[in-house]
Amino acid sequence: MDREPSFVYYPAGTEDNLVGEFHFGSASDEEVLTPGKGIKLFVTDPPYNLGFDYGEVSDNQPEEDYHQMMEDVVDACYEAADDDAHMFLIHYPQDFAKMWPRLTKKWKFHQWITWAYPANFGHSTKKWTNASRTILWRVKGDPEFYGDRVVQPYKNPWDRRIKKLIHEEGKIGTPLYNWWQVNLCKNVSKDKKEYSNQIPEELLERIVLSTTNLGDLVADPFSGTFSTSRTAMRLGRRAWGCDLNPDVIKWRPTLTDYDSEPKIDQPKYDREYPFYKFEEAGLTIEQIHKISAHLLETLSPEEIAKAPGIGIAKAKKMKEALQGKADKDGTVQTGIDSF
Ligand SMILES: C[S@@+](CC[C@H](N)C(=O)[O-])C[C@H]1O[C@@H](n2cnc3c(N)ncnc32)[C@H](O)[C@@H]1O
Repeated sequence: MDREPSFVYYPAGTEDNLVGEFHFGSASDEEVLTPGKGIKLFVTDPPYNLGFDYGEVSDNQPEEDYHQMMEDVVDACYEAADDDAHMFLIHYPQDFAKMWPRLTKKWKFHQWITWAYPANFGHSTKKWTNASRTILWRVKGDPEFYGDRVVQPYKNPWDRRIKKLIHEEGKIGTPLYNWWQVNLCKNVSKDKKEYSNQIPEELLERIVLSTTNLGDLVADPFSGTFSTSRTAMRLGRRAWGCDLNPDVIKWRPTLTDYDSEPKIDQPKYDREYPFYKFEEAGLTIEQIHKISAHLLETLSPEEIAKAPGIGIAKAKKMKEALQGKADKDGTVQTGIDSF
């Protein structure tokens, strides 16, 4: 296979300040990922060896070959990492169990994170629906962690002590737990590419903000759609990526993806918690549901459409559904979930 050219981006006039470096090839190849690169953070989801379509790259290897490939790549990442660095690897727990000695040979175990997501596929009569993956966080040396940069809303903002934190100390939330609910990339989202297992930006953003600073080098050895690199560059970090599938070259980020002065609130609410305002107001989920139902019934479609992300067409459909009117195709929409 001919090697496609690699691309390296520097902002104009700053030849010593690389902001993006993207290769065709495997990270286990020293010509692709050279040791001593000073990479601060690796975030990646490898091929799962479950038969996904990655063009000419097989996702159906004999188990031993697959495990060896994983070991070679994580070892190469270790050699390319800074003396103090993080590596987050996304996979299924049962596969981590099989590969444990290989994955923790050089990198030191730090934490398991469970990534859970609502799923409406693969229901089985033999077991519960698989709707989570594990993020295995390992470290080299003793890297910094900034757990107060991305927070979730306080669960009890009406509590006297929490009110004090909010009003006197300017705190807006509490650190995240080691279980995260982040939706999978929706097919309709504008960022979604036609590729299996694209990792949602929300999840990548949490990790990048909590473990790196502006200008740090963030790498993904199994880049796919280059979601990690694009998120890192948007947040003012420098990015390194590679992939063995030539089809993904079209998704490599460009200089326009890099923002040297990103606007990042410190601390910021995680994007997965859009309803923090309800929680700040001290409402329970049941109360939120009751208020929503009341508003849906009493507001006009025009007023409902003012809520972010709704739009007049959806608002009208919701009202019609509430009144039991049939859709064009004859079905009756029964609730907000059906949109
Ligand atoms: C699960 S996908 C990554 C998806 C990516 N995280 C995203 O958000 O788009 C795994 C990728 O690893 C690539 N791959 C498989 N074996 C590889 C290897 N040895 N070196 C580099 N890339 C490899 C596949 O071509 C595929 O694009």
